[in-house]
Amino acid sequence: MMYRSLVTGCGAYLPAQIVTNAQLAERVETNDEWIRQRTGICQRHIAAEGEMTSDLGVAAARDALDAAGVAAGEIDLIVCATSTPDETFPATATRIQHRLGVPQGAAFDVQAVCSGFVYGLSVADNFLRVGQAKKALVIGAETFSRILDWTDRSTCVLFGDGAGAVVLEADKAAASANGSGRGVLSTHIYSDGSHHDALYVDGGPSSTQSVGHLRMEGREVFRHAVVRMAEAVDAALEANGLTPGDVDWLVPHQANIRIIESMGRRLNLPSDRVVVTVDRHANTSAASIPLALTEAVGDGRIQSGDLLLMEAMGGGFTWGSALLRW
Ligand code: ACO
Repeated sequence: MMYRSLVTGCGAYLPAQIVTNAQLAERVETNDEWIRQRTGICQRHIAAEGEMTSDLGVAAARDALDAAGVAAGEIDLIVCATSTPDETFPATATRIQHRLGVPQGAAFDVQAVCSGFVYGLSVADNFLRVGQAKKALVIGAETFSRILDWTDRSTCVLFGDGAGAVVLEADKAAASANGSGRGVLSTHIYSDGSHHDALYVDGGPSSTQSVGHLRMEGREVFRHAVVRMAEAVDAALEANGLTPGDVDWLVPHQANIRIIESMGRRLNLPSDRVVVTVDRHANTSAASIPLALTEAVGDGRIQSGDLLLMEAMGGGFTWGSALLRW
């Protein structure tokens, strides 16, 4: 490959409004203890009325550009991972492109639900590797609160709104470095459409001409999540000649603390090497990995040279992993 992608900055945005488990218990038959024990979630952020996925995405993107020291005018690729676009079309990425004042390049959405960020990273990384783009923004932005059935306690307690973003820059020197060099080492993405009924939204432009609500068989998703993500992690390590012992940080999709902890155990990682935000953010779908990354970079946990492992699974099913050296 001619180039390798370096993450030169990351950023985040969370809507101001916080909804606690106790507040949810006023709306549906649930309680703080059930939610905490089953999921690890204590609270979630919910977008304000009129605040859209693109608003969240723009804020996270600006934060990432600032961190990278890159001007919006230098960006030539925007990939926005979202399952909750502002509109059926155009892509939310194009709205973000306009708001940021990016005058060139391509902007499009990637739809892989909770695996969206890993998918988006994979797409952008491949553009950069072959030289088709030089500086990319990969954004995960979601307003799942808009597609939840707020009368269904088995799903409405699990999700939150938010956005995270990274700036990726094509780097020639990193491409010629060996496996110890910095940047995105690999991405592995997968899907299996036979599991549609376990996690889907019961609406859309071509089926019902409405937006619909999220429907989920929680147990079925749980069972597959651990197995599938473990396979993706094994593929990532094997492709790079690395072992679980080489991983410094697990930066996982944040769906459920039990899924996160079981992945950590499988990798033999001490719990303080696993980045957890699910307690405060709940499941923000495509936004959860860049939100977690930004937190752990911001507080100094993640240091230059560290090996980061990302993994996710979502509706489709889709799943995948990414390995990168910070
Ligand atoms: N409050 C109180 N009780 C509840 C609630 C609630 N919010 N929701 C469900 N219950 C009840 C159920 O009605 C059921 O009662 P019953 O036994 O009287 O019928 C009981 O709790 C157990 O329900 P289960 O669904 O079997 O609970 P489970 O232990 O499987 O936990 C959960 C449910 C948390 C959804 C779990 O299956 C899970 O985390 N699955 C993974 C799903 C997920 O993370 N999806 C995110 C999208 S995909 C991804 O990102 C990986």
